[in-house]
Amino acid sequence: MEEIKKNITADADAASDQAGLAQFKAKYLGKKGAVTEMFASLKDAADKKEAGRRVNELKMFVESEYTRRETQLLEEKKAGELKGIDVTLPAYRAAKGTSHPITIVMEEIKSIFMSMGFSIEEGPDVEEDYYNFTALNFPAEHPARDMHDTFHIDETHLLRTHTSPIQVRTMEKYPPPLKVIAPGRVYRRDAMDATHSTVFHQVEGFMVDENIRFSDLKGVLDLFTKELFGADLKTRFRPSFFPFTEPSAEVDVQCVACRGKGCGVCKNTGWLEILGSGMIHPNVLRAVKIDPEKYSGFAFGCGVERIAMLKYGIDDMRLFFENDLRFLKQFNS
Ligand code: PHE
Repeated sequence: MEEIKKNITADADAASDQAGLAQFKAKYLGKKGAVTEMFASLKDAADKKEAGRRVNELKMFVESEYTRRETQLLEEKKAGELKGIDVTLPAYRAAKGTSHPITIVMEEIKSIFMSMGFSIEEGPDVEEDYYNFTALNFPAEHPARDMHDTFHIDETHLLRTHTSPIQVRTMEKYPPPLKVIAPGRVYRRDAMDATHSTVFHQVEGFMVDENIRFSDLKGVLDLFTKELFGADLKTRFRPSFFPFTEPSAEVDVQCVACRGKGCGVCKNTGWLEILGSGMIHPNVLRAVKIDPEKYSGFAFGCGVERIAMLKYGIDDMRLFFENDLRFLKQFNS
């Protein structure tokens, strides 16, 4: 047995390719193969059972030697192919998309407010004049409408100029208490330049309940800017005007570039304007049938492009819309 097995192993080792392996198999297990013939001669054996067991053992040995040599040849082939190739070189990476910087900043703003318990609402881009202006205390023909260069669609429809109409839509749908943010795209008939775009993004936020005070607005927005730009930066509230808030305030944050010292980014003032805000005007609450004697609320709206520009040190808004991959690839979220 041992002698025969040694020969089988030697024959298997002599095979150098698939054809050689086929020959090897035929030599032992083919129609006229050595092992096949042993099976045929079993009937003359003295101890048939013992002889049968041995021949069977040989057959299995041939098969396992075949597999062993086949694996060995495959590995040799692979090793040959890799010869001269530095397998430690990094592989080519599959091209993978990244989130747009505006999306990244929107998500960040959303998650800051969600952690304060705000929920998210949306509204239509093609809006009714009523929601964009009238219900927000812009009377028809009122000059405050001129603050928004509007794309009109017909007499009563327009592309929303801000996300504030979502305040009205949400308050029509749900009773207070409300704590909502509303992100979205807005449109203005502005010429494109480094700081203006006909299409841009805002995140609106508002809270309505009994006893909501201006200090609640200050607390929420101060926490927001600290989360977004860093806890070392102070906020400042400057009186302003919006028809739908009273009192109104423009919110400034200390300059993210110089941390308040004064530099080119903040025009040496140390401050940057980042959003508009105020206490929701009683006329707005009346328009959605919320009693302004019982309830009060605050609202704010911020431009996402502006925040993204400050956060990433981008000096031209057009970069967000040009789809230049060299720009977009830098935002690996
Ligand atoms: N909608 C205002 C704008 O686009 C911003 C704002 C929102 C101001 C909410 C006050 C309250 O300029």
